[in-house]
Amino acid sequence: MRVALIASGGGSNAGALMNAMQAPDFGAEPVLVLSNNENAGVLERANSFNVATQVIDHRPFKGNREAFDAKIGQVLSAHNVDVVCLAGFLRIMTEDFVRSWEGRMLNIHPSLLPKYPGLNTHQRAIDAGDREAGCTVHMVIPELDAGPILGQRNVPILPGDTSEVLAARVLKEEHILYPDMLGKFVKNH
Ligand code: GRF
Repeated sequence: MRVALIASGGGSNAGALMNAMQAPDFGAEPVLVLSNNENAGVLERANSFNVATQVIDHRPFKGNREAFDAKIGQVLSAHNVDVVCLAGFLRIMTEDFVRSWEGRMLNIHPSLLPKYPGLNTHQRAIDAGDREAGCTVHMVIPELDAGPILGQRNVPILPGDTSEVLAARVLKEEHILYPDMLGKFVKNH
């Protein structure tokens, strides 16, 4: 399976996925890293794994999400991509685009969904007095941070945790969960 990773930032999850896919028996290879941000750290990571990169800046598409998504779709097709992994991609995708990839697009979210879709998940969990937090890998559907859950990992929320401390604790689990869930997905398809 040919996998594209789409990310806006540092791309530590994308890095974990590219690393996992180096295993010959993984059953998938990273063929493209796509970002809307030319300064995204994920592009460096892609270079270090010799994975092709493409930047599609969203700003010239202001007010026209359809055209931005169409461009992404063209690039994915040009690379014969089978599966898309979103990994910290900070743009909302149009319903038509998501539908066209439904069943073939995964995302990781830093909360125990269905709790805390959207942003600021760690602070919200702390503020709510939750005793645990975590991360979720799910299939992407048009509704934000919804869609069938493939797996989750939990961490405790400890007294005195700040959102930064908690985020770092969860991120370590993300780096285990996402490769595990992609591996399972690949083996089931
Ligand atoms: C992670 O917290 C992920 O759960 C969320 O965005 C963040 C991306 O981090 N979707 P990184 O760029 O993979 O380090």
